Amino acid sequence: MESELKALWLLSVVLLVSNWKHWTHGKSVPQVPCYFVFGDSLFDNGNNNYLNTAAKVNYLPYGIDFDTGASGRCSNGLNIADTIAEQLGFDSYITHFGIGGCTNFLDGVNYGSSGAGILDITGSKSGELFTMNIQLYNHNITVSRIAKILGSEEDARKHLSQCIYVSDMGHNDYLNNYFLDNYNSSQIYDPEQFSQLLIETYETQLESLYRTGARKIALFGLIRVGCMPYNIQQNLDKLDASSCAYELNNDVQIFNGKLLGLVEKLNNKHSDARFTYINSYEIDSDNQTNKGFTYTHESCCLVEPRTVPCTSLSVPCSNRDDYVYWDGAHFTEAKALAFGKRAYKRQSPTDAHPYDISELVKLKLDDSDAYDINHAEL
Ligand SMILES: *[C@@H]1O[C@H](CO)[C@@H](O)[C@H](O)[C@H]1NC(C)=O
Ligand SMILES: *[C@@H]1O[C@H](CO)[C@@H](O)[C@H](O)[C@H]1NC(C)=O
Ligand SMILES: *[C@@H]1O[C@H](CO)[C@@H](O)[C@H](O)[C@H]1NC(C)=O
Repeated sequence: MESELKALWLLSVVLLVSNWKHWTHGKSVPQVPCYFVFGDSLFDNGNNNYLNTAAKVNYLPYGIDFDTGASGRCSNGLNIADTIAEQLGFDSYITHFGIGGCTNFLDGVNYGSSGAGILDITGSKSGELFTMNIQLYNHNITVSRIAKILGSEEDARKHLSQCIYVSDMGHNDYLNNYFLDNYNSSQIYDPEQFSQLLIETYETQLESLYRTGARKIALFGLIRVGCMPYNIQQNLDKLDASSCAYELNNDVQIFNGKLLGLVEKLNNKHSDARFTYINSYEIDSDNQTNKGFTYTHESCCLVEPRTVPCTSLSVPCSNRDDYVYWDGAHFTEAKALAFGKRAYKRQSPTDAHPYDISELVKLKLDDSDAYDINHAEL
């Protein structure tokens, strides 16, 4: 009996250790009191599980390398938003908002939703989702709850001004709208006009986020969507030298250029806040981040032709760290880690402008008291 118990204990320790590859440093003090996440499927950590939509991935092999299995993340393990939480020193995952909200929201909430975009119409033909406007609405609910717990709106503002906010929006306005024939955007707007519509809408949304008290905001640009396995397959006649669909990449680059301009504009307007641009397009390049990956243009898991998601319960590749892409459109954990590392601490000057996330954390802003790491309990 005793030896059986010992074996069982040993087994559970082995399982715990092997599953818990991340957040191994025990109880750490985060560099900021909270971290709020707005985004699409690159950042969604389970919000779509609650929705009536085909765009959810709460089944294996998703999460095969995640401690609790399939969680709704579009990855075999962590996603980019997770890797940034880890680098910020949080000792566990940031909870998702879900429907109606979560209870432990003081250290931040993830509102990300697969399929979501800046425009309300984006993704609307593939089921329910939390658009950027809904994510902001949900954040307002969180903000009121924080004010209630901390006792006043002023205390809530102080708390919220010290936090890091990330937003990864725009991919689906192209992938799940502009590039699709069953949406009429590409008939109404040329690429330049469409990117302008996105930027103007995004500006209004970011102003609303600012009004809730957000002061340190990192805006992720768009990745090389033309290099996603799904888009390579769909555009075999329009590939460039690196085998990516150049038209798609060119279109999202117009948005990226304007987003950089929007960051400048917002920073000039709000001296008590800092916005920064994370150059996802450059960070996503084969050139540096993909160094060390053997397979940069193919999916690790089994994907039916002309689709994005992994086939349910299919057996994925075993050498997952050698792949950039997990399914037809989303990164493996290995790539998310490499990506998140460069967003947090730039590797080349163009990775982030004007700040990388580690610099954003350290900034002292006009009307926010510096966060005292020794009094981090809340
Ligand atoms: C959220 O709150 C801010 C500031 O109180 C407000 O300006 C904004 O309109 C609200 N947004 C939504 C979506 O309710
Ligand atoms: C485009 O589609 C939207 C939503 O389906 C519709 O409301 C709008 O009238 C359409 N515009 C044109 C010019 O066809
Ligand atoms: C590769 O990286 C170098 C150094 O950062 C840069 O100068 C060059 O433009 C990059 N090339 C491509 C194709 O991204």
